[in-house]
Amino acid sequence: MMRSLGVCYYPEHWPEETWAQDAAEMVAAGITWVRIGEFAWSRIEPEPGAFDFNWLDRAIDVLASAGLKIILGTPTCTPPRWMLTRFPDMLAVDAQGHPRGFGSRRHYCFSHDGYRQASAAIAEVLGDRYGHDPRIHAWQIDNEYGCHDTILSFSDAARDAFRTWLAQRYDSIDALNMAWGNVFWSMEYRSFDEIDLPNLTVTQPNPSHELAFRRFSSDQVVAYHEAQVTALRARTDAPLIHNYMGRVLDFDHFDVGASIDIASWDSYPIGFLSDRLEGSAAHKARYVQQGDPDMQAFHHDLYRAVGRDDRWWVMEQQPGPVNWAPHNPAPLPGMVRLWSWEAFAHGAEVVSYFRWRQAPFAQEQMHAGLKRPDNVAAPGLAEAAEVGREIAEMPDIALQRAPVALVFDYPSEWAWATLPQGDGFSYFRLMLDAYRALRRCGFSMDIVPSSTSDLSGYKLVLAPGLATIPAALSAALRQTVALVGPRSNAVTEELAIRVPMGPDLPGLDVTVTRVESLPPQGHRPAAGGGTVQHWVEDLEGSARTLFETGAGAPILKSDGTLHYLGAWPDETLWERIIHDLAKTAGLAVQTLPEGLRLRDTATRRFAFNYGPESVDFQGKTIAAAGVAWWPV
Ligand code: GAL
Repeated sequence: MMRSLGVCYYPEHWPEETWAQDAAEMVAAGITWVRIGEFAWSRIEPEPGAFDFNWLDRAIDVLASAGLKIILGTPTCTPPRWMLTRFPDMLAVDAQGHPRGFGSRRHYCFSHDGYRQASAAIAEVLGDRYGHDPRIHAWQIDNEYGCHDTILSFSDAARDAFRTWLAQRYDSIDALNMAWGNVFWSMEYRSFDEIDLPNLTVTQPNPSHELAFRRFSSDQVVAYHEAQVTALRARTDAPLIHNYMGRVLDFDHFDVGASIDIASWDSYPIGFLSDRLEGSAAHKARYVQQGDPDMQAFHHDLYRAVGRDDRWWVMEQQPGPVNWAPHNPAPLPGMVRLWSWEAFAHGAEVVSYFRWRQAPFAQEQMHAGLKRPDNVAAPGLAEAAEVGREIAEMPDIALQRAPVALVFDYPSEWAWATLPQGDGFSYFRLMLDAYRALRRCGFSMDIVPSSTSDLSGYKLVLAPGLATIPAALSAALRQTVALVGPRSNAVTEELAIRVPMGPDLPGLDVTVTRVESLPPQGHRPAAGGGTVQHWVEDLEGSARTLFETGAGAPILKSDGTLHYLGAWPDETLWERIIHDLAKTAGLAVQTLPEGLRLRDTATRRFAFNYGPESVDFQGKTIAAAGVAWWPV
């Protein structure tokens, strides 16, 4: 598979006279793909039913004539103002009951039937016009489902659709009452029509009610998305793509990905470090101009799993300072190249920069592009062009199956967000900690969904925090060396404690008899080094104890190949545990300099130095923000 570069471009933002030169400069920079159209609804359909394709036809013509391949976006994340006049009740509603008003984007509710039909209709119109146009090489559906916290909507449309969804899932109201335990606090319903959304309650709503609402909300995204997939599939053979975001977890990306061809995501490493990652002040200071060393790779591996046949892209790559995080420093020189190469090393087919030129107006005027608002090259452009030259020399990277896999499951995120039992218990954070620990030991990884039933190709599999373990997966975990826990197979699908108590896995005599969440000042030392933080469990059973707390309580038990971890380890303890597991699995652990990360393909080892100083590794000196590769 050839690797190539792309860029996001908004012809409607610029005078038409500039398009041809922009296109020529893109090509000169080694760019192959250009994404257009995803916010242009008010220009495509200025009045309901009155379309203006002239400008778009001309833009497509100019870009394609320069040799660029076009990705056309459906503009449904920016419904124009007239849509609100047509459907005054289409707005998403927040948990406090406030409508999320017009004047930015993503203001629609996924459950609004009228808007869903209008979205399918604009996809049909675009598909009719451009579906067989050979200049359109791919389609992007909508833009970043879930960005700006837009999945959970507490609208009347959502309430009505939720009742229908519940009636289908539970069949009878008695079954729902029983499944949720509604006898507790006299919450029993007499009919599905009595059930409201789980917001504005006096205190915590029933967790089963909330989890059901989260499942429903994810299903609504899938249904909304599939309406556009259906519209486009009938009109084009070009691949369909969606661009996901980083740490947006309110819908099941595997379910959305099932009906399209390529997963893509929008990678803003420095924004993410500032905006949506835990971490000590020292960690954030060290990586302030690079981004967290594991956040990007984690999403690369996750979205490779979401994409059909491992097909995935970076649709938007940060090219300089962004505008939306609490603080927006510039990347260290070299980071734009590093991020791009890290994506390719994880199997990305395309890395596309956001955006071509910084807009001197509106919400993102402070967001860098490859070019400045005055059309002078910004620093990111030279790095992008360098990557363009480099990939021309290394068109394929020979992706291979990794030795280690991590199981990722969106409903587990919803379960623990619903019932955290301690501030800071986040499934995503637990997974990223596990991923980081494995990467610090030099491993390349695959991420697999919890629907997986064959793990035989992996030497080591980790499934921390997996709220409910499906039977097929628990059988597959026996094919290899595996670790589950903490909080794995602890609850039913309805978010009720399992009885007999978990993890209840075949062959592993371990029972979690009590759990505790720990405040930051209450962490506990582990015997032999490291600390237990956030979460610890009492483990009983005859399985062998491999690690314990300083006070002698078991925290890791094993029957030889299957391990149960009853604690949330800090970095030191994770590292000790990984060393132990790797030994059992027959895998070699490496000691990496701080900030260095590796990625192995079938033919090459790539090394990425996220640190602010150069490092020496395996006979090579890798500069700060530097990338190196060599044959394996
Ligand atoms: C993404 C979005 C883009 C742009 C970008 C700015 O979330 O898809 O449209 O807003 O962020 O960083």
